[in-house]
Amino acid sequence: MKIANDFLWGGSIAAHQCEGAFDEDNKGLGIMDLVTVGAYGQPREIHKQLSSKDRYPSHDGIDFYHRYKEDIELFAEMGFKALRISIDWSRIFPNGDEETPNQAGIEFYKNVVNELLKNGIEPIVTLYHFEMPIYLVTEYGSWTNRKVIDFYLKFCQTMFEALKGKVKYWVTFNEMNHIDPQTEASDIFTYIIAGLKYSELENKEQTLATIGYNMTLASCLAVELGHKIDDTNQIGCVFGIEPVYPVDCNPINVMNAFKQMDRDFYQIDAMCTGQFPAYKLHEYEDQGLTISITDEDIEAFAKGKLDFIGMNYYASSVAEYEGADEGKSALFGGLQNPFLPTSKWGWAIDPTGLRYLLNYTYRKYGLPIIITENGLGAVDELTSDNKISDDYRIEYLSQHIQEMRKAIELDQVDCFGYLTWGPIDLVSATTGQMSKRYGFIHVDLDDDGQGTLNRSKKKSFDWYKQVIESNGEHL
Ligand code: BG6
Repeated sequence: MKIANDFLWGGSIAAHQCEGAFDEDNKGLGIMDLVTVGAYGQPREIHKQLSSKDRYPSHDGIDFYHRYKEDIELFAEMGFKALRISIDWSRIFPNGDEETPNQAGIEFYKNVVNELLKNGIEPIVTLYHFEMPIYLVTEYGSWTNRKVIDFYLKFCQTMFEALKGKVKYWVTFNEMNHIDPQTEASDIFTYIIAGLKYSELENKEQTLATIGYNMTLASCLAVELGHKIDDTNQIGCVFGIEPVYPVDCNPINVMNAFKQMDRDFYQIDAMCTGQFPAYKLHEYEDQGLTISITDEDIEAFAKGKLDFIGMNYYASSVAEYEGADEGKSALFGGLQNPFLPTSKWGWAIDPTGLRYLLNYTYRKYGLPIIITENGLGAVDELTSDNKISDDYRIEYLSQHIQEMRKAIELDQVDCFGYLTWGPIDLVSATTGQMSKRYGFIHVDLDDDGQGTLNRSKKKSFDWYKQVIESNGEHL
């Protein structure tokens, strides 16, 4: 197999990390609008209400809301075939439970999609990338409440209908897998996904299990709905997955690693096999957790199977084991791998892990896969002539693309696209910083919100253009 001629090269962005305009055109308050700026080792604060003393990076983002035309033109100049955007739910239904949607919000996304199409860029639309109206959290209890599934479906229906005939690729959710009760949980991860602080949850494991189940169900229902509205829609879900390696060949450690990695897959199992996995229900039962499954749910799982799997890949980790040094913890739980270098933010750099994960996932489900995020968060320094020579970023991406090529060409994995995270610098989700940069395009904005917001090309801009032009040959 070769990389197909219509392979989707491009990038991914998310509304709350780039749009800004947080209170314009009737937008409601979204969960991330209440999160302050942090730093590596200094968590973002999560507020119950806005305070005039603090800075909330989502409020201004990188002003994509007003500059999307300029930004899309730059993506087109690089030769992008696809751009993954997200729709901010709180722009469409400001509180989440309204009868009618906010037309101004719909208009904005129609304009963005039209602009992409005009530039020959395929829009890939994520319906939930950490952008829930806060009202659904405070008034309804977020995803713990099944009513929220109905509100989500109404929002999905609104967007499926509004963008019908223009958008073919849809993503129901971004990275819901980080909500599992058996995974290392933290305030920011639980909050990002469901608007709830882990430390404040009363019945932690049960709440996370219920949320995980309800979101999985919501995804299946959205897939079924999207197919009904337009049977040419291709609907996937995006997962943030880390391969988890055993620390050595002690069978106990190998089994532990298997179990720890398996946690990231139960929702994919549910969305691809047509039923919520029995092993997961059994694990919950063992832990004294209950999930109530109705006959309608069983039908929804059977009817809402995914068309493709979206994979966000940044890092791998090593499974925890008895006697492990806790100081060596990795990103989403697990431990650091002594064989791998890490980014400045402690993320292990492991290109081979991408090939491993593509193979693992493809052999498990046989579904087409798109790499929906991959990238290096780094501090970029301007040289005296005002340029950014980001060779480290080129090296990171080039190594990962090489491994993806091996997966496609040698291992026969059906991978139909590669999207970098943050083709333009934007607000970091975990830290809220601007100084954790991923882009080919530099945005003049610092962590305190100071800067002209001017866009300029980094060295990697021309490099990626050439990668796309050569269909991945010239790395
Ligand atoms: C992914 C998210 O997990 O990681 C993105 O889907 C996020 O929203 C990306 O931005 C990189 O993480 P961070 O914290 O460096 O922005």
